Amino acid sequence: MIEEHPIDDPGVEAHIERHADVDDSAGRRATLQVLTCFALAPLFALGFVIAYFWPGFDRMIVDFGPIYSNAQHLVMGGFLGFAVLLIGIGAIQWAREIMYDGEMVEERHGAASSAEDRAATLAEVDKGIEDSGISRRKVLGTSLVGAIGLTALAPLVMLLDAGPWPLPSRRRETIERTIWDAGTPEEPIYLVNDVTRSRIRAADMEIGQLINGEPENLWDHHGTDFQVEKAKAAIIIVRMDPNSIKVPDRRQDWHVGGILAYSKICTHVGCPISLWEQQTHHLLCPCHQSTFDLGDAGKVVFGPAARALPQLPITVDDEGYLIARSDFTAPVGPSYFERDLYPDDKGE
Ligand code: FES
Repeated sequence: MIEEHPIDDPGVEAHIERHADVDDSAGRRATLQVLTCFALAPLFALGFVIAYFWPGFDRMIVDFGPIYSNAQHLVMGGFLGFAVLLIGIGAIQWAREIMYDGEMVEERHGAASSAEDRAATLAEVDKGIEDSGISRRKVLGTSLVGAIGLTALAPLVMLLDAGPWPLPSRRRETIERTIWDAGTPEEPIYLVNDVTRSRIRAADMEIGQLINGEPENLWDHHGTDFQVEKAKAAIIIVRMDPNSIKVPDRRQDWHVGGILAYSKICTHVGCPISLWEQQTHHLLCPCHQSTFDLGDAGKVVFGPAARALPQLPITVDDEGYLIARSDFTAPVGPSYFERDLYPDDKGE
């Protein structure tokens, strides 16, 4: 016959007291360790905030063996990582040395709790709070709340990266202008290939060709500035048969024999676009399939985008290289609440 319980119930092991339970000075030492962790965490969070605002820090690069990174990102990540690590170490030390560590047996029971069980659970919760040491050492609970609260504030400063406060004048200086506007008749801004950085001669472009381009002055910018200006100024340059495209009257001098330049940034939510169908002149955004007709002033022919792709007016210099006539005539990229309507939004 098979025995129903072949192994004797070993029962609960004898409880071993911890140092901190039997020795007051060990208890105080453990409390001090936890407090130290919770006190240091906000200092690292403060370091994170200082690193964020430190002038010029975003342009520094760490180049050390396999580490090649933006110094600001590295330091901010390090500070925030240490802040969270210290809160974690403090919490673990608290649980190991100060919270109640008696062994318990949990009996199996039905899924629904009886009123008595609920009352017993609440009593256990109260006991847990008591055993956690909060009621005896209130300073621990206060310091934990303080450490988490102050550390959680640190990432809030990153909201500043959501963009400038959108007053009209601020918008005009930032999201509504690009570095294409820096050109003058004496010193025009050249269109360059974004890989080779070489200027583009109109005569070298073939019908059906697409080139990803940038303004030549982009490389006067560095660090975050470089990224911000590149994100706004990126263009695609296409050549089409001038007899196969529609060019509105007021845009007749914006192209060079069927070579047109458009913003590369989708007007839906800002993906970079360059899926080009030579035959139809359509440009397809890979994110949500908005489709723009580059042979018809960049108008939207399909998808969620609500505005035509902004066109960059271009011409050529004396040697036949492509140059910008001006900045875009409508803000590039996605819409935002405060944005005004521009005639070019409809591709007219
Ligand atoms: S970002 Fe281009 S369609 Fe959505």
